[in-house]
Amino acid sequence: MKRYVSLFAATLLASPALADRLPIPAGAPPAFKAECGSCHLAFPPALLSADDWRRVMAGLDKHYGDNASLDDKTRRQLEDFLMHNAGSSWKLGSGGGDPPRLTLTSRFQRKHREITPATWKDKRVGSAANCVACHPRAEAGSFSEHEITMPGGRRHERD
Ligand code: HEC
Ligand code: HEC
Repeated sequence: MKRYVSLFAATLLASPALADRLPIPAGAPPAFKAECGSCHLAFPPALLSADDWRRVMAGLDKHYGDNASLDDKTRRQLEDFLMHNAGSSWKLGSGGGDPPRLTLTSRFQRKHREITPATWKDKRVGSAANCVACHPRAEAGSFSEHEITMPGGRRHERD
């Protein structure tokens, strides 16, 4: 019983931080970081729904203007991994675009609503997909508001 209660308390305490900790899920195939982390951050699977991941993985030869094709076995392995660790579509909203973009989900937009168009266009950012421009510890799966650095090294201040 005691164990149950403390587990419950730990879960409650942990919840507010859940949104800013998005590590690559344990058991990720090595190909995930090697292939999907070679041109950009290996994006956290939880930021797109399973349906959207399926669409991303179905069009790797036309990948946002690039060719990210894989052999069939690796493609299937990564698709399984991504779909298994996907986020829920009702929480995220759909990543409009073809292929879908996690930066176009309503959840991403809501979390980033305070960012001005000028900041998105800053050449040090270049694209909303360039997570590390503002989240220096994104590679480690950390998106905490305390670690945000905006372009130019300015720390993000909250009022
Ligand atoms: C050859 C380089 C390359 C490889 C390999 C690659 N990508 Fe990409 N990816 C891109 C480019 C370029 C973009 C567009 C980035 C932008 O708009 O700034 C992109 C964008 C994305 C986006 C959309 C980001 C957004 O704006 O929301 C997702 C999702 C994505 N990639 C997933 C993957 C996955 C999964 C893999 C592995 C199967 C992968 N990528 C491998 C080049 C690559
Ligand atoms: C131009 C800077 C910038 C870029 C680029 C950016 N973010 Fe953010 N991100 C922010 C800011 C600012 C916040 C809001 C922090 C706050 O006040 O809680 C935020 C919040 C978040 C949160 C919510 C954290 C929480 O505590 O709930 C996540 C998750 C996140 N970003 C992921 C990403 C991912 C993934 C990418 C790349 C696809 C990305 N961000 C690109 C600036 C950026």
